[in-house]
Amino acid sequence: MLIDGDVIKDIQPEIDVSDDTEILDASEYVITPGFIQTHVHLCQSLYRNCADDLLLLDWLRKRIWPYEASLTPDDLRLAAQLGLSELLLSGTTTIMDMGTVKHMDVVFEELVRSGIRAYCGKTMMDFGEMPPELFEDMDTALNSSQELLQRWHNAENGRIRYAFAPRFAVSCTEELLKQTKKLADEHGVIFHTHASENQGELALVRERFGRRNISYLNRIGVTGENICLAHCIWLDEEEKDILRSEKMHVLHCPGSNLKLGSGIAPIPEYLEKGINVSLGADGAPCNNNLDIFNEMRLAALIQKPIHGPQAMDAETVFRMATIEGARALGLAKDTGS
Ligand code: GUN
Ligand code: FE
Repeated sequence: MLIDGDVIKDIQPEIDVSDDTEILDASEYVITPGFIQTHVHLCQSLYRNCADDLLLLDWLRKRIWPYEASLTPDDLRLAAQLGLSELLLSGTTTIMDMGTVKHMDVVFEELVRSGIRAYCGKTMMDFGEMPPELFEDMDTALNSSQELLQRWHNAENGRIRYAFAPRFAVSCTEELLKQTKKLADEHGVIFHTHASENQGELALVRERFGRRNISYLNRIGVTGENICLAHCIWLDEEEKDILRSEKMHVLHCPGSNLKLGSGIAPIPEYLEKGINVSLGADGAPCNNNLDIFNEMRLAALIQKPIHGPQAMDAETVFRMATIEGARALGLAKDTGS
């Protein structure tokens, strides 16, 4: 393998090099692409093991939202440092982070400092019950998102990129989601959200909009290749076809889906349809672990009792943790293979 600066130039059984080329003997090692986690919450890292045995909506209302509401800039910096350390030390070199509502410059500063490649945005929440510290009206949420985008998008020669992050349909107005899609298209950046993770979440979406979650997003125009959806467990056939035809990306979080009892996403079916699926550990308190090897193991094992032992073989899962993650982030020509 010939490396020039920070770019892999060639991989061959033998490569002719000049006499002054530095040679590293890696014969005792396996060389892989850096792993990619397309859905994490760095801000939640200080709450590992502090929100156990709850379903999603209670987990958010009773534990996670009060925790996020309480974070000072110093707390948030520690949470980001802790999460980034765990990710980097276990081989994850690229992430997409959901952020939190306040103090997000601190997270971007730590992303820069850590050396990781990151897609990140501030969480937007403009609807529903939540601690007052997390609520913003739509204009405030969009304006502060755009200010962060101006400051951080393409920082460090493009190692840091902005990604809009409305939390999920339950905590957002329809207008916020539509405006966010418009801005994501204008700026050529990713729209990152949670969707169809839990039955209670689905019931709230149906109560407000009379539709299932993906069907609702489709009706309001939140579709297309820049849409990255964490979870996607509870979809009907029509919604799976929307993901496929609109080339939307599924961010699969098997550890989180097990811990919160959310369900088992029909990943083999998505892959068969040609839907892009990548991996993420989600946050420390809905997994208790940010290690990509743990996530790969779970992604494989949870499907085997349902679909048989040949489902989700090692190569498929390894691709989800590398090249398919790069594809979701629009990075496939630069990394992941
Ligand atoms: N849905 C909305 N917010 C969250 C979150 O913080 N974690 C998970 N797992 N699902 C969510
Ligand atoms: Fe999440």
